Amino acid sequence: MTVISNDISKVIEILNNDDIVAIPTETVYGLAGNIYSEKAIRKIFQVKQRPFFNPLIVHIQSIDKIEEVVSEFPAKAQKLAKAFWPGSLTLILPKKSNIPDIITAGKDTVGVRVPNHPVTLSLLKQLSFPLAAPSANPFNRISPTSSLHVEGYFKNRISMILEGGECKNGIESTIIGFKNNEALLYRLGSISIEEIEKIIGKIQIKNKNDTTPNAPGMLAKHYAPRTKMYLVDDVEKFIKHFKNKKIGILRFKDKMNTCSIEHLEVLSKLGDLKEAASKLYNTLHKLDRLNLEIIVAERFPDFGLGKSINDRLERASK
Ligand code: TXA
Ligand code: MG
Repeated sequence: MTVISNDISKVIEILNNDDIVAIPTETVYGLAGNIYSEKAIRKIFQVKQRPFFNPLIVHIQSIDKIEEVVSEFPAKAQKLAKAFWPGSLTLILPKKSNIPDIITAGKDTVGVRVPNHPVTLSLLKQLSFPLAAPSANPFNRISPTSSLHVEGYFKNRISMILEGGECKNGIESTIIGFKNNEALLYRLGSISIEEIEKIIGKIQIKNKNDTTPNAPGMLAKHYAPRTKMYLVDDVEKFIKHFKNKKIGILRFKDKMNTCSIEHLEVLSKLGDLKEAASKLYNTLHKLDRLNLEIIVAERFPDFGLGKSINDRLERASK
């Protein structure tokens, strides 16, 4: 039985017992375990069916605790942490030797962030260890933005989901690493490139077609619904090829001129990219449940969070 509850003391008991729980964050729900419990960490990989070459993000309660996790904290990383933590930014930094290899997939770096969710911050403050937590979805599937999404994926395979409502950002953290003191974007996410560059100046983008899985969130196929999905510039024109199909449509702000559409989802009538990002996964989950033959998504504007949304839609439609 999987219990959905806001009982933090129960969660603490489970985690202290080398077991795992789903936790809310402001980005997506995570599947969490004590970073020092090999049993818990193995269970995370097993439940998610995640390959061991894909490292986990470590969640800490505040910037002051970072020394437990990393061996270096360069000036640029400090600036970013001060600007965005608690929040949706993961920093890849040289790891402390006490961080188990299973967390980092044998790398000498570790991904770390302070999540910005009151329930999970309160939990972290009551624990004596940080939490490793990948997104709480099976490998390659759409990330969960509500406790019900997690339950749908892992019913009876995890004992508890800590209830924290709908994730307000709705898209994973932005991941930044460093090479020769230069910041490098590993994964587009909840914080836009523009916001990052306001703090530390121009950053480099890690090559999208890089096949070495430094950040498998950057692998080609990811975040995918079961229904065949297409990402196109002109939805109205594209669907003319699919006259007799059951089609679901995902658009940014506009309605359709044709009225023969099975199912239309508009992410932000006001054209607000933040609102659109926050609804993206929930809407994909919804469309995926409708037994449609295809989902056609409209390409978003190529700036701010539009870039992050396009990144996820591209991977979902591969
Ligand atoms: O918003 C988020 O970041 C959520 C919430 C739960 O915090 N977590 C999340 O975790 O998205 P996950 O495991 O689904 O994605 C983490 C990404 C993976 O693509 C992984 O490869 C990358 O972070 N990553 C973690 N540690 C890394 C490291 N040392 N070097 C390079 N990439 C790393
Ligand atoms: Mg993930």
